[in-house]
Amino acid sequence: MASSSLRAVFSVFVLCFAMFLTNARAQLSPNATNNATHDNRYITWQDLNFGIEATRDTDGQGTRVIYVTKNGHGHSTTVQGAVDMVPENNNERVKIVIFAGTYNERVYIPRNKPYISFIGNPNYQTVITNNTKASDTDPLDPRREIGMSRTATVEVEGDYFAATGITIQNTVVANGGVGMQALALRLSGENAFLYNTRILGSQDTLLDDRGKHYFYKCYIEGLVDFICGEAQSLFQDCILHSTAMRSGAIAAHHREKNDSTGFSFVNCTITGNVGERIYLGRAWGPYSRTVYSHCIIDDIIDPVGWNDFNQPERQKTVFFAEAQNRGRGAWNSKYRVSYAKRLSPSQAQPFLDTKFIDGEQWLRLDENTSPQFHCLCC
Ligand SMILES: *[C@@H]1O[C@H](CO)[C@@H](O)[C@H](O)[C@H]1NC(C)=O
Ligand SMILES: *[C@@H]1O[C@H](CO)[C@@H](O)[C@H](O)[C@H]1NC(C)=O
Ligand SMILES: *[C@@H]1O[C@H](CO)[C@@H](O)[C@H](O)[C@H]1NC(C)=O
Ligand SMILES: *[C@@H]1O[C@H](CO)[C@@H](O)[C@H](O)[C@H]1NC(C)=O
Ligand SMILES: *[C@@H]1O[C@H](CO)[C@@H](O)[C@H](O)[C@H]1NC(C)=O
Repeated sequence: MASSSLRAVFSVFVLCFAMFLTNARAQLSPNATNNATHDNRYITWQDLNFGIEATRDTDGQGTRVIYVTKNGHGHSTTVQGAVDMVPENNNERVKIVIFAGTYNERVYIPRNKPYISFIGNPNYQTVITNNTKASDTDPLDPRREIGMSRTATVEVEGDYFAATGITIQNTVVANGGVGMQALALRLSGENAFLYNTRILGSQDTLLDDRGKHYFYKCYIEGLVDFICGEAQSLFQDCILHSTAMRSGAIAAHHREKNDSTGFSFVNCTITGNVGERIYLGRAWGPYSRTVYSHCIIDDIIDPVGWNDFNQPERQKTVFFAEAQNRGRGAWNSKYRVSYAKRLSPSQAQPFLDTKFIDGEQWLRLDENTSPQFHCLCC
């Protein structure tokens, strides 16, 4: 593209940053980067920052940036186009900065493209949306249906993925019919960090497929089994919003043996239509493991709390637990299923922070470098 138009984009950047700076001086540190944060064994806040020093190709700290804009003034008009520009077997962080806009597309990050960041508008004006569902025809074989696991609007197989300020959506609404599973996001990289990201769908919104993942201050919405999969994930300070009208379920963790995977929800806010009777979790696989601690839970939970997926033998092996939640949907000793566990503070301890996902091995999110978003206008 013409360099003059890139220059125009950059004058907008500079203007926006200047405006933002006046509001957020205190957060800015010219030393936000040091070499330790470039250690690619760790995901850091720096991987989600985008700053004043950005140029047309880097973030000003030596990390490559690819801009996605709807108006053609960036490097790509589609998110997939930007992913395609990342070299295969990439071994350093690449920040894909996605300007505000609605991107009607499906995005695939293959396994050989690790270290990708998606940085969107922190006010949630960057939306990636599509509407593929399980019963759609498989483009590779018209005699078959595509199947649930291939419906995602955004599918991430690359490791060390990080995202912020993005809304990822699948607009299919489950109506009780078959084949309505429709993923917004499928996350299968070994490690991933999502901050301030919204994931919207209906049946099976988030296939948290495998790996160790950290969701911090995210918003996840759906109707049934809307957080599902085999991953080992911590969801901290998130909002889980149920759109169910009568029945539904939040989590369907899938665990076939007694390994370290599971979903831990800590200090989350769980909302929905009052009068719903949904499950906190359902047993996908005999060892399904889901824990809610220190959450605020609206009056939307079936008093039995949990469901064995009509496989009573799973009651012996699932790990469905609650600790110190509040709200009318919280622990109900009169009605909870007998196999649900109420944890003491010490029993809940292993589930409360990033140790649950072995964060010391791949996350460096110390408080001093908490999120710095300079990308107000992007
Ligand atoms: C940045 O680094 C310089 C040199 O190490 C130091 O003098 C300065 O105080 C640092 N600034 C901030 C805001 O940390
Ligand atoms: C950081 O790395 C660069 C290039 O590898 C090197 O020139 C620089 O001295 C390093 N800075 C510090 C503070 O270690
Ligand atoms: C879904 O994604 C495909 C492929 O990226 C695109 O062609 C189509 O327009 C999108 N549809 C919607 C409704 O977003
Ligand atoms: C719990 O989450 C709320 C809302 O995100 C946040 O304001 C609060 O600081 C969190 N509390 C703790 C103890 O982390
Ligand atoms: C799973 O393993 C843990 C610790 O190794 C053990 O305490 C627990 O009883 C096991 N659960 C089942 C259902 O076998």
